[in-house]
Amino acid sequence: MDVHLRNGVINALHLSAEGEADAEKAFFVADLSSVYRQHERWQKNLPEVEPFYAIKCNPDPYVLRLLAALGTGFDCASNGEINKVMALGVSPDRIIFANPCKATSFIRSSAKAGVDMMTFDNTDELHKVARTHPGAKLVVRILTDDSKSLCRLGLKFGAPLASVPALLVKARELGLNVVGVSFHVGSGCYDPNTFMDALMRARSAFDMGRDAGYKFTLLDIGGGFEDATFERMAAVINEAINVYFPNRKEEGLRIIAEPGRYYVSKAFNLATNIIARRAPPAADDSDLADPEHPSVMYYINDGVYGAFNCILFDHQTPTPFVLSLAGSFHVPQGLPLRASSVWGPTCDSLDCVCPVTPLPAALQVGDWLGFENMGAYTVCAASQFNGFEVSKVIYTTGTGPGAKEVRDALRQFEGDAQA
Ligand SMILES: Cc1ncc(COP(=O)(O)O)c(C=O)c1O
Repeated sequence: MDVHLRNGVINALHLSAEGEADAEKAFFVADLSSVYRQHERWQKNLPEVEPFYAIKCNPDPYVLRLLAALGTGFDCASNGEINKVMALGVSPDRIIFANPCKATSFIRSSAKAGVDMMTFDNTDELHKVARTHPGAKLVVRILTDDSKSLCRLGLKFGAPLASVPALLVKARELGLNVVGVSFHVGSGCYDPNTFMDALMRARSAFDMGRDAGYKFTLLDIGGGFEDATFERMAAVINEAINVYFPNRKEEGLRIIAEPGRYYVSKAFNLATNIIARRAPPAADDSDLADPEHPSVMYYINDGVYGAFNCILFDHQTPTPFVLSLAGSFHVPQGLPLRASSVWGPTCDSLDCVCPVTPLPAALQVGDWLGFENMGAYTVCAASQFNGFEVSKVIYTTGTGPGAKEVRDALRQFEGDAQA
């Protein structure tokens, strides 16, 4: 990945030397073998849980193709997402429409497309489904504790357990088929133990289903998986599944999840060019030692209206590293540092990427800053505000573990699509 970031920068430097317009454009490097390795890791640690990738997190076409080729399912929240996945040849039974509050027209379209699995958490939704997709396989989304997550989704979705029996009675009255239970512990969950409590609540909802005359066969444990804590989270989930669903095999229970961030976060790095700088008059080193107060402002060519929308929407705090200094990738250690701030390219003062961070005092216009872990909730919500383009993606499979498998999977996928 590092090599590709550098190559991209070298190309840009080369082009700009030839006077090519916009050669300094920011760009992502996506390492598809990282996505592959996350999938392997998933299968190893959660062998009983089928991943349905949450495409909202990053609908990159190559990520989707790779995951389609690897056989994952997909969590879609809209017609647009469903169409995108189905255009890849994914069959509708590999899709869950995991938005509990859908436009009626979207439910109708999903009926036409054969997408039956969908979530709900309120009675109005049941009436809409009864009218437009009576054959749907409904999944009741319950509220769980999301207080240990960066993005709390319970503010908007999830039926409190106390309301579930009445919802199920209504579903029965309407002749609807409720097949299971889903929850989401919140995105960016930092306490693996949250899953223990969530699965306990899911168990209660299963019992409520039985009392209402249903035999649930689907458990959807949602998203919220983090790269750093994945193994610990998986251990808690496996234990909780054993505790609360001990007879799952005999009962034919299918367990799925909707991971987003886990699959793509670290697969994407971003290279940005310093397009402008506001600095104190030269040779004033009095501020070098003050780490709190930035004295240099750097302006880069992607910002919070672009890839860094993750600062506003996803509570992230991206930190730059120096990719190139004075045209060289050999950034010496121990350079004098200045407290600096990093800003996006738009004319809005909200567009601050990093309010204060130490950067080499020698850093100048034309140098490059890199940002790691930029694959989740970045490019998907980037806008073109102020006329700035969304940063493009360069793909690599790397040369390490997974590289060959990715190439084989994509080749096979292309072959299947043409057959
Ligand atoms: C319904 C649903 N499923 C899955 C996800 C993916 O969550 P994460 O990226 O934390 O795994 C989200 C994220 O908002 C979501 O709303």
